[in-house]
Amino acid sequence: MIDRETVDKIIDAAEIVDVVSDFVTLRRRGSNYVGLCPFHNEKTPSFNVNPARNICHCFGCGKGGSPVNFIMEHEQLTYVEALRYLAKKYHIDIEERELTDEQRAARTDRESMLVLNEFACHYFEQQLHETDDGKDIGLTYFRDRGFSDETIKKFHLGYSPERSTALYQAAIKAGYNRKYLIETGLCIDDKRGGGFDRFRGRVMFPVYNVAGKVIAFGGRTLKNDPAKYFNSPESTVYVKNRELYGLFQAKRAIVKEDKCFLVEGYTDVISMHQAGIENVVASSGTSLTQGQIAQIHRFTSNVTVLYDGDSAGIHASLRGIDMLLAEGLNIKVLLLPDGEDPDSFARKHNATQFNQFIAENESDFISFKMKILLDQSEGDPTKRSAAIGDVVKSIAVIPDAITRSVYAKQCSAQLDIAEDVILREISKHIKHNKDEQYKQRQREQARQQRQAQGQQGQPEEKFVEQGENEFVKQPETPVEATESDTQRLLYPHEHNMAHYIAKYGFCYLCDTEYEDGEKRPTTVIEHVYNELNYDNMAFTTPQFAQLYEEGLKFVPLFHEDLGKEAEKLNAQIERRFKEETGKIDSAKFSLREIEKKENEIKKRLDEETQAAMSVWRQQYLEKRLCSHPDDTLRATALELVSEKYQLSKIHTRYAVIRTEQERLSTLVPEALYNWKNAIVKCQIKEVQSQLANAQGEEAAAILSRLQELYDLGRRLAKLIGERVVNPK
Ligand code: CTP
Ligand code: MN
Repeated sequence: MIDRETVDKIIDAAEIVDVVSDFVTLRRRGSNYVGLCPFHNEKTPSFNVNPARNICHCFGCGKGGSPVNFIMEHEQLTYVEALRYLAKKYHIDIEERELTDEQRAARTDRESMLVLNEFACHYFEQQLHETDDGKDIGLTYFRDRGFSDETIKKFHLGYSPERSTALYQAAIKAGYNRKYLIETGLCIDDKRGGGFDRFRGRVMFPVYNVAGKVIAFGGRTLKNDPAKYFNSPESTVYVKNRELYGLFQAKRAIVKEDKCFLVEGYTDVISMHQAGIENVVASSGTSLTQGQIAQIHRFTSNVTVLYDGDSAGIHASLRGIDMLLAEGLNIKVLLLPDGEDPDSFARKHNATQFNQFIAENESDFISFKMKILLDQSEGDPTKRSAAIGDVVKSIAVIPDAITRSVYAKQCSAQLDIAEDVILREISKHIKHNKDEQYKQRQREQARQQRQAQGQQGQPEEKFVEQGENEFVKQPETPVEATESDTQRLLYPHEHNMAHYIAKYGFCYLCDTEYEDGEKRPTTVIEHVYNELNYDNMAFTTPQFAQLYEEGLKFVPLFHEDLGKEAEKLNAQIERRFKEETGKIDSAKFSLREIEKKENEIKKRLDEETQAAMSVWRQQYLEKRLCSHPDDTLRATALELVSEKYQLSKIHTRYAVIRTEQERLSTLVPEALYNWKNAIVKCQIKEVQSQLANAQGEEAAAILSRLQELYDLGRRLAKLIGERVVNPK
């Protein structure tokens, strides 16, 4: 849980140019920056970064937003994780509040283990690169395998020395707790209060979780050891069936290519990266699990499984793939030439050749399975029918009915079996699976409900972090379609109003006389609030209503912060005034001249303060809404503040060019009157339609109501553009 002040601090600190520059090379263009979009493939830059607005936007694919949005999208993180990322970047300490002691202890355990793993990873790397054994044995091995130094560094490969307590002693000496050396599995309890290194004499492959933390290691022997790989045991930080090797390094490419290659081993992943294919992960020799599939599915629905040409395991792995189908993933299969695995194949081919091979040889999974099974059962009718049953079973788990029927057709054609026989078999299987599917749906619904409840709660409640590995990306809520005529007519006005609120909510608008007889400066959002209350109006478009309500919540906070900001600025100004007046050489000037100079300085500093204050006010709500934890709200705000809704500046021959912000005192009341006018028009329409069916007294009553509305409409029309502010 991150407290609100810290969130504010992070949002204030995060500068878009700075954040984006970590990933994209930016070039200045006018007051903006441009670069190649990191979210889709392009050759000419259409990714725009606007430091003034503190947002970025791709004109090609539409992605972008605030610094938080950018990090969420680019690093594929949840909102809270993105905040943590930015906090780390800007050295902001996150205060953890309201954790129970137990949770805090668990967190410390977990964090201690992660820190230790990080240490071990560095240690192994250092051994590889800086010791004689490391270089002679480890580095030579990697280089002989064809790994470049760049690749070795990228995957933080290392070497664990032959001595049985090398790491143990180094870690203890560096102050690490023995308890965590045992719990991470880096060392094995020697029952005498010490420990042995688990991985001695092996080359090391650190395993990262999707967020980039080292959670485990794989160590490969360089001898004739029958246990080729040792892996870290399961622990609080390493739940094996949820992790995929290489996902951290691959996730960006997976999203970009909208496709993920699935291979078996560490070295397959690494060699493919080196060949230029980065969207690849490994199941690390075990068959796939539901948790691993869920990990992939967060980033793409398209998975291509690479098989060794001579793999004896094809048959066994076929079963695992049914799970991928059941998850609704589009599965393709690529069979490599005989004797090749992805590692060896990647070393012999560059990315272009590899990609070409994929394009030519990739086949959809069902056809692949059909072919394998039928080849194996040739000439044996019992086996053949079992094989057909197996294929049908696979089709039955596909959740999408259309995809299923396409496969049924294909199956019927290739196997020469009537389509309805196949369809009947499929529906038998579906019935069979139904129980299980039903249970799963219920679980899923429960999960979604929990999530939805989280979304409706107070913002504070939304900062509860999901487990490190559960990056539940909240589904994007499409902008609600306005249904009725009324809504359609009112939409542009509400949109306009919401734009002023999102962008200028806390800019000064006017002085208002309140009921207590006192006149007070009023901000845009406060003015809108007064007006809406007075006339009993409300937003009808849900996302604008939500944005308005959220904006109102910031009113008390704003006034508090305004006081603080003013104090801060005043202190600054005082200091600068002293500094600058101190520089006036009193010997050179007369008292009058000095006074004049001082006044000039004061005037200039005052103007600067005003300008700084005005920028601060303008950004106050915009920043907070554009980095809001609620996905819908954030999207609405970003859309509303984007440049395309700024009224174009007024260029006249008399050269009065004023920005939207300078014209708020005209624009906001105007927008309010236009909106009210539209409401009245809608009411007139409604009453007119009532009149059509009315008679006698009723008709007379309706007519007089209509007359009232006409009058109101006329008065409003007169007001539009006339009255600037409406003090009450
Ligand atoms: N594996 C394992 N333990 C073993 C053998 C294999 O954990 N005793 C896992 C490793 O994650 C390995 C993967 O299964 O990467 C695939 O096994 P294999 O193809 O035998 O290893 P490669 O990764 O190809 O390693 P190398 O090329 O160095 O033999
Ligand atoms: Mn291999």
